[in-house]
Amino acid sequence: MFKQLKEDINAVFARDPAARNTLEVLTTYPGIHALIMHRMAHELWKKNCKGSARALSSFSRFVTGIEIHPGAKIGKRFFIDHGMGVVIGETAEIGDDVTLYHGVTLGGTTWNKGKRHPTLEDGVIVGAGAKILGPFTVHKNAKVGSNAVVTKEVPEGVTAVGNPARYIFKEKDKEKNAEEARRRDYAEQIGFQPYAASQDQTDPILEGIRVLLDRMQNNEQRMNTLCQRLSLLDPTFKKQQTEQQPYSEEELKIIEEVRRECESQTRQSKS
Ligand SMILES: CC(C)(COP(=O)(O)OP(=O)(O)OC[C@H]1O[C@@H](n2cnc3c(N)ncnc32)[C@H](O)[C@@H]1OP(=O)(O)O)[C@@H](O)C(=O)NCCC(=O)NCCS
Repeated sequence: MFKQLKEDINAVFARDPAARNTLEVLTTYPGIHALIMHRMAHELWKKNCKGSARALSSFSRFVTGIEIHPGAKIGKRFFIDHGMGVVIGETAEIGDDVTLYHGVTLGGTTWNKGKRHPTLEDGVIVGAGAKILGPFTVHKNAKVGSNAVVTKEVPEGVTAVGNPARYIFKEKDKEKNAEEARRRDYAEQIGFQPYAASQDQTDPILEGIRVLLDRMQNNEQRMNTLCQRLSLLDPTFKKQQTEQQPYSEEELKIIEEVRRECESQTRQSKS
């Protein structure tokens, strides 16, 4: 138990630059007081002394402003900064190295018995005033922004912000942005300007245009390679074509334009 308390105090030093010494943490941090009392109340709860467990958690709430149901399971090095207004429901489960700020609710959305509160995996950080409501999981190292309202599972390492919460996938976003930039450049190159389109739109027509743009760009690259190879194989192929002219004047103009386009594409892909 003392080992666990030592770990909890060390967690305060690691996560609060304002913490100065152990005595100060032990005497002035309501998060630590609530945690000590919760660990005792939880033991009583497990031993079926439910009344005493509830009484102790009620006292803890009165003293610290933090309400933790004695049935809630809390892992190692849990830290509640400031604390006031935190509510943790009966079936909430909290992993190791989790941090909560004041005003956080780990609540339920149903009056049915059974699992109705969230599970926070290791390393989760929940900002001040955030509400996480329902029996889903906030996966490892996810962050919940202050005042966010989260009602759905949060994937590992993702930041959830806003009400209702939107998810910020940082690495994936970077890849998606690069892909979108490539597509936009190509669309501009061929004189196509998608009007008022943004990458998070899920319009099926826009999706279709994206697929077509990708396809066109691929085909163009293949054509360029073919043109390059053909001119290497037979430098006179353009001359032969004009001599055995199966095309009309109009068609020849088009072919000439295509050829010029092809050459300029080849130059671009070389540079
Ligand atoms: C969410 C948080 C953890 C930052 O996470 P992050 O992954 O570094 O996110 P970023 O700062 O890169 O912001 C990403 C986006 O979320 C937005 N955002 C960040 N925090 C937000 C919040 N609480 N609510 C709404 N949007 C928020 C940013 O404006 C940005 O939007 P953009 O992509 O449109 O520009 C942080 O903002 C937060 O809320 N921390 C809690 C701190 C706290 O409660 N402190 C109390 C001390 S007493």
